[in-house]
Amino acid sequence: MINCLIVGHGAREHAIGEALVKGGAELFAFMSSKNAGLEDLSKGRIKVHSETDFVEIIDFCKEKRIDFAIIGPEAPLCVGIVDALEKKGIPCASPPIEAAQLEGSKIFMRELLEKYRIPSNVKCKKFFSIEGVDDYINQLGIENIVIKPDGLTGGKGVMVFGDHLFSKRDIMDYCTELASKNAPFILEEKLNGEEFTLQAFIDGLQVIGTPLVQDHKRAYEGDKGPNTGGMGSYSMEDHLMPFINQKDVEEAIHDMKNVVAAVKAETGIKYKGPLYGQFMKTAKGIKLIEFNARFGDPEAMNVLPLLKTNFVDICWQMIDQKLSKNVEFEKKATVCKYLAPEGYPISPVKDALVSIDKEKMKKIGAKYYYASVYRKDGKIYTSSSRAMGILGIADSLEAAERIAEQGIGCIEGRLFHRKDVGTNSLLQKRIEHMKLLLNK
Ligand code: AMP
Ligand code: GLY
Repeated sequence: MINCLIVGHGAREHAIGEALVKGGAELFAFMSSKNAGLEDLSKGRIKVHSETDFVEIIDFCKEKRIDFAIIGPEAPLCVGIVDALEKKGIPCASPPIEAAQLEGSKIFMRELLEKYRIPSNVKCKKFFSIEGVDDYINQLGIENIVIKPDGLTGGKGVMVFGDHLFSKRDIMDYCTELASKNAPFILEEKLNGEEFTLQAFIDGLQVIGTPLVQDHKRAYEGDKGPNTGGMGSYSMEDHLMPFINQKDVEEAIHDMKNVVAAVKAETGIKYKGPLYGQFMKTAKGIKLIEFNARFGDPEAMNVLPLLKTNFVDICWQMIDQKLSKNVEFEKKATVCKYLAPEGYPISPVKDALVSIDKEKMKKIGAKYYYASVYRKDGKIYTSSSRAMGILGIADSLEAAERIAEQGIGCIEGRLFHRKDVGTNSLLQKRIEHMKLLLNK
């Protein structure tokens, strides 16, 4: 029996835990707040404590005789949890701190891509103060500016001209704010195109792609409203997108391979674990928006439930640097919709009851993953972030979307979701957008 530890407390970790249990593992969970799904999958073998307290995590691993760990969220990765665990003899199917800097520092990531001439890189420049910002804005043009703080911001620090910034004044104000907090930042070229997520398994050298996913960052239908952690995502039965072909995927994988090699050349450290590439197909080719040193949330829910290959074996193979090329996924479409508390992300309703008709959900065939909710006396309540991810899996996108919506119909509470995620009309808009860009 293999004892696996999952670190993290969200729906992504619930999905990772499910894949480990399906692979035959005995699950243990270490999380900063109690996830009811992980509590059940781990049969109560959990510890609720800060996910960056290495001493406590190591003690828990020793006590429970953990064979390997996998880390869900970025915060512990970017402060070196993998290095700390591995020093104590606990292998991890996640990257060490130097390699996790691909996510932890946008300056590190962009400079690496530039130095190793990775084609999906974009024009950008780093700043530690506002000196030189004005010149660079003039060089790129105000309407082409994206501002990104260097470090982790929970997906909420990126400001894009036309979405969040509307004048030179707005740009200068945000740069000044970052500089006054001594927060290094980059200005980069704004891209126009369609985004897609490519998550891959990495063993230090090989890069094995998983089905493409498209996430929806904006809070409201029609891609309106503030940015969120992601309101839902879909994937297609052929594992591509109607506007992203196999050649595009090969281009993205090629760049990911070269980035993994560049990390090794630059730091001496091998990247192992899942690597999340967020790309955009543009008129100038495939461009990289960001890397995450982990699975995406919600994107983990689109790919892990489709795995036909044993996930525990994949984790061992990543750890042992022996990844097999034969990783198989069901040829199905998926739609994941997040239910968020009313008012999210600005002023979410907390402590509101969430009632789930589990019997009906089962009959419909929808799956559900707990995110930011807590269980008290057998009942589920909202806390301050996305509450639950509801997943439909089927032979077509249309059927998967219907299952996800029917699953949502089994849940009551002061919650909202984006009805348009995974719908044909939204998909058509994306296809038209791509056509327009490529025919220009
Ligand atoms: P990130 O946190 O880097 O994923 O950025 C959040 C969102 O900002 C992305 O999902 C994109 O929609 C948008 N974004 C980031 N970088 C760019 C860019 N260079 N051009 C256009 N949009 C971008
Ligand atoms: N879905 C975006 C992320 O996981 O960061």
